[in-house]
Amino acid sequence: MSNNWRASNRVKQIQKSAIHEMTRLSKEIDDVSFLSWAKPTSDAPKHINDGAIKAINEGLVGGYSTNAGILELRQEIVKKLKRDNNIPATPDQIIVTVGAIEGLMDAIMAIIDPGDEVILPTPTYSTHIRQVIIASGIPVLVPLNEEEGFALDIEAIKKAITPKTKAILYCSPNNPTGTVFSEKELRQLAALALENNLMIITDEAYEYFVYDNHKHFSIGSIPEMKKNVVSCFTFTKTYAMTGWRIGYLQADDALIPQIKKAHIPFAICAPVVSQYAALAALKGPQDCITEFRDHYLKTRDLMCDRLDQLSSIFQYVKPAGSYLMFPKIVHEEGQDSMAFCKKLLKEAKVSTTPGIAFGPTGESHLRLSFCVPEEQINKAFDRMEVYFK
Ligand SMILES: Cc1ncc(COP(=O)(O)O)c(C=O)c1O
Repeated sequence: MSNNWRASNRVKQIQKSAIHEMTRLSKEIDDVSFLSWAKPTSDAPKHINDGAIKAINEGLVGGYSTNAGILELRQEIVKKLKRDNNIPATPDQIIVTVGAIEGLMDAIMAIIDPGDEVILPTPTYSTHIRQVIIASGIPVLVPLNEEEGFALDIEAIKKAITPKTKAILYCSPNNPTGTVFSEKELRQLAALALENNLMIITDEAYEYFVYDNHKHFSIGSIPEMKKNVVSCFTFTKTYAMTGWRIGYLQADDALIPQIKKAHIPFAICAPVVSQYAALAALKGPQDCITEFRDHYLKTRDLMCDRLDQLSSIFQYVKPAGSYLMFPKIVHEEGQDSMAFCKKLLKEAKVSTTPGIAFGPTGESHLRLSFCVPEEQINKAFDRMEVYFK
């Protein structure tokens, strides 16, 4: 590396991801059982691929689209937001983005000035924390209440608000805990945001993967919150379209031109071929969503049953949503989740994600993904049962 190379302080402060470190280590070992993948293992349904192929054959994907995304797609998104999220929107309030991630980054760049504080209920998706740091904002990590099933701690959030607080950023269903914040909690959060003139940025990536009697609630559906919310969504999880890199955000008319100013230098527009695939996803049959959800429900229950057999090692909150769970390591070596995960990988050939990757409140936990075939879960737990005997 040249001596002239001087990385920005902005990126230098970002710590190496424990997730990537575990992925690297997992590749060095043969025949690993993976419980660390947080992406759909199936391919996108055929009609979605066909939609993209048709657009390619018709010569529609060679150029840029309008920055906000093709109008027909935004019109379909508007219908979906009304039907499934109870969010009334117009096509002009939508920006199609490069996955939810770019939408979140655009929203953060449009809202956060250097030194502004952003409250993140944690454990949370670690990329959110990094995104705030990249924007020179200050992440303020407020622990979820684990005793109450990783619920939002409204009192603690209230106490964390300072004159510098600009926004609250959360994901529900939550990665890594699998919690679905209730409508009641989110209405309390909304009231707090309005009282303190704060913005709320949501990540609703797992909106359709909710189990038992739990319901996904979009805070953007509360009419009084219209001007205070940027809601971010994705096709990644819903339609198993991880690699297509396609998502969208919705915000009030007054905010959209500002968010677009962030979107254009990051992306110009979302990949056009993926926009046509997304259009096929929204216009086509929706049964794949139910199929994915039914599969995750089955694998969630299997994982919980298998964890019950290891109750002297792990204690868990049953996830209400997503395809992730976050058991606490009660084993004596569980204080250092990174060391625990490395040992489990090396000695039992089971790959998991250390809780510390999700903020300091994630320490002494593991993230396990049940977005895998049942055989994979059984193989991993058979190995752990032998290992912990
Ligand atoms: C909570 C959450 N948000 C966003 C993403 C990434 O979404 P996208 O592929 O749409 O950028 C993930 C991926 O794991 C996630 O877990």
